[in-house]
Amino acid sequence: MNESDDDKLMRDHEYDGIQEYDNNLPRWWVYKFLITIAFAVVYMYWMQFSGSGKNIWDEYMTDRTAYERDEMLRAAKNMRPSEEEFLALAADPLVLSSGELVFKERCASCHGLKGEGIVGPNLTDHYWIHGGSLMEIANVVEKGVPEKGMVPWKGILKPDEIYAVIAYVHELNKKGEVEGKAAEGEFVSGGK
Ligand code: HEC
Repeated sequence: MNESDDDKLMRDHEYDGIQEYDNNLPRWWVYKFLITIAFAVVYMYWMQFSGSGKNIWDEYMTDRTAYERDEMLRAAKNMRPSEEEFLALAADPLVLSSGELVFKERCASCHGLKGEGIVGPNLTDHYWIHGGSLMEIANVVEKGVPEKGMVPWKGILKPDEIYAVIAYVHELNKKGEVEGKAAEGEFVSGGK
C-alpha cells in the first residue's frame, strides 16, 4: 500500500498522534449483522406477541403439569380397580395366567392348587365367610384375616399381582365347584 492510498483511507480525526483507517466493514460481517437484527425482530414478535413463545415460567408450568399428571396416573395405578375394571381384568387371558401363577406360588399351599381348600377355605364353592362379591374378595385378599391365618397380601405382592390373583379367584369360582374342603360361611348365589 502506498502513501496516497493510506491517505484516502484515513479518517480525519486524530488523537495523540494516533489516526484511524476508514475501512469498510467486510460484507459477510455486515450481512450477518443485518440478519441478527432481522432475527431479533422476528424473535421478539414470536416471543412477546404471537402467543407461541414460551418463557421460563411457561416452560416450568408445562413441565409441572406433566409431572402432576404422571403422579396422578401413578396413584391411580395403585388404586384398587372398580368392579367393572376387575371384570375386564378377569376377561383378559394374560391377566388370568399371571393370576394363576401367583395363586400357585402364594395361595395354593393353603387353598389348594385348584382352590379346593386345605387350611384356607374352598374358593370354588358358593359359600363365603367374608362375602362373595368381587369387591369383598378383593378386600380379604388385600387386608387378609391375620387372626385366622389369611395373609394380608397388600404390601407383600405388587398391586398388579394382587389384582391378577383376585381376577383369577373370581374366574376359578365361576368355573365351578371342586371337591374339597367342606363349605364354610354363607351361601352366596350365582354370578359374583
Ligand atoms: C397361610 C395360609 C393362607 C394363604 C397362603 C392364603 N390364604 Fe386365603 N385364607 C386362609 C384362611 C385360613 C382363610 C379363612 C379366613 C377366615 O376364616 O376368616 C382364608 C380366606 C381367604 C378368602 C376368603 C374366603 C371366604 O370364604 O370368604 C379368600 C378370597 C382368600 N383367602 C384368597 C387367598 C388368595 C388369593 C391367596 C394368595 C394370594 C391366599 N388366600 C393365600 C389362609 C391362607
